[in-house]
Amino acid sequence: MPAHAQFRTERLLLRRFRDADRAAYAALNQDPVVMEHFQGLQSTEVSNAFIDKIEAHWDANGWGLWAIEVPGVAPFVGFAGLWPATQVLGWDAVEIGWRLSRDHWGHGYATEAAREALSFGFRELQLPEITSFTVPQNIRSRAVMERIGLVHDPDGEFDHPRVDPVAYPHLVRHVLYRLDRATWESHQAAAAR
Ligand SMILES: CC(C)(COP(=O)(O)OP(=O)(O)OC[C@H]1O[C@@H](n2cnc3c(N)ncnc32)[C@H](O)[C@@H]1OP(=O)(O)O)[C@@H](O)C(=O)NCCC(=O)NCCS
Repeated sequence: MPAHAQFRTERLLLRRFRDADRAAYAALNQDPVVMEHFQGLQSTEVSNAFIDKIEAHWDANGWGLWAIEVPGVAPFVGFAGLWPATQVLGWDAVEIGWRLSRDHWGHGYATEAAREALSFGFRELQLPEITSFTVPQNIRSRAVMERIGLVHDPDGEFDHPRVDPVAYPHLVRHVLYRLDRATWESHQAAAAR
């Protein structure tokens, strides 16, 4: 495991996935509320395959999506972190993303994890920019993007290339949010003053 793959924040442990997380991850992907803005529920096989992909990505690249543990509360509440977005956006891009089980919404956990992911991406990986995107109606996800300082790019709206437009026409259009490293650094400097 890369040394920097695990972080403690005020309330969270951001860590690599363990096999013990698999059942809870599969369960959240079976919750219609969690999956409202996705193309249907995800089977245990699909959930397991994504964990395998996340872990392989960490091994190959030293960055990726963390499993979120809330010590003293729950061993696994969901994931957050960075993920390649080049194939979706069509340029060399990294996205920040999150998915939490319904029981653990409304506590600021996604925002807390996402702030750490931004810091990791800009400070350690020296990424020039971090993006995020979702369907316009995913208000909760957009709220996280805005809380952590990403800015809506009205010219960046796009049709997601992996969404089936026949089965899920309402999930095709996506809004794009962006934050570049210089702006993030200036926010950090202002917050420290
Ligand atoms: C997107 C998602 C992660 C957001 O979860 P969330 O709990 O709303 O977001 P946060 O963790 O930032 O929590 C914010 C809420 O916690 C509250 N909160 C409570 N204690 C808090 C604390 N100590 N610090 C910060 N916020 C706190 C905030 O007031 C806010 O409440 P509100 O939504 O009623 O205004 C969640 O809705 C989800 O998993 N959705 C399904 C998957 C998904 O759509 N992912 C995105 C795909 S692009």
